[in-house]
Amino acid sequence: MDKSPKRIGELFDDISPNYDLLNHLLSLSIDVGWRELALKELAIGDGDVVLDVATGTGDMALKARSSADCIIIGIDLSRNMLKAASEKWKARFPDDGFMVLQGNALQMPFADNSFDRSMVAFGIRNMTDIGGFLDEAYRVLRPNGRMAILEFSVPPYPVIRQAYLLYLTRALPFIGGLRSGNRGAYHYLSESIRRFPSPGSIEELLVKHRFRTVRSLPLTLGICHLYIIEKDAAEGEPKR
Ligand SMILES: C[S@@+](CC[C@H](N)C(=O)[O-])C[C@H]1O[C@@H](n2cnc3c(N)ncnc32)[C@H](O)[C@@H]1O
Repeated sequence: MDKSPKRIGELFDDISPNYDLLNHLLSLSIDVGWRELALKELAIGDGDVVLDVATGTGDMALKARSSADCIIIGIDLSRNMLKAASEKWKARFPDDGFMVLQGNALQMPFADNSFDRSMVAFGIRNMTDIGGFLDEAYRVLRPNGRMAILEFSVPPYPVIRQAYLLYLTRALPFIGGLRSGNRGAYHYLSESIRRFPSPGSIEELLVKHRFRTVRSLPLTLGICHLYIIEKDAAEGEPKR
């Protein structure tokens, strides 16, 4: 699959006007609960500096800011998704800034150890090099910092798996294509879910890239997976 930053940025630029509506429609709004759980586990505190990777239209950033008086920075490849995020943010928090920047999560323009918390929701499967992203995410997170990864997965139970794959390969591109006029984009989205590594493989990758897994939770029969991971404490620093 072509996951070059240029192609992914253009794909999300194209579907950005319909993204929120289709997202909630196609997931029957179950994603709202997944996002709330991820943020609860992330335990963002007042004053924390938080990175939202692949921020898209900013749903995670908005929810995070509603839960704590924190500073949030969002990064994404797609200018149009970021524009939608900024508009939503301005309507919700007119006196508060949301710093967004267009850029690649595999080469982020942030100093080492910059963030107390970070998160990536439904973005990691679009990346060309998951290991490279994990190294970069580790670099910018402070020692003892915590990160949440939310991503779709394919259920392990045979009957549910078959039904879900049918939904993914037939219904999702059909409905998404009808509403957005871009069936190809929704075909890509369904393929990227189908081909994404299993939770077991991701857990192995997390260890390989130095993260400590605090929780690895299948959600809603395994159609989504939440990973809560931490960077080790700096030498001499107590764990918390
Ligand atoms: C499915 S959307 C998810 C958006 C948002 N996080 C959410 O929860 O709704 C995926 C987003 O990841 C972004 N993305 C994909 N690969 C990226 C990369 N390498 N660097 C930065 N953003 C990326 C896309 O532009 C898109 O906005």
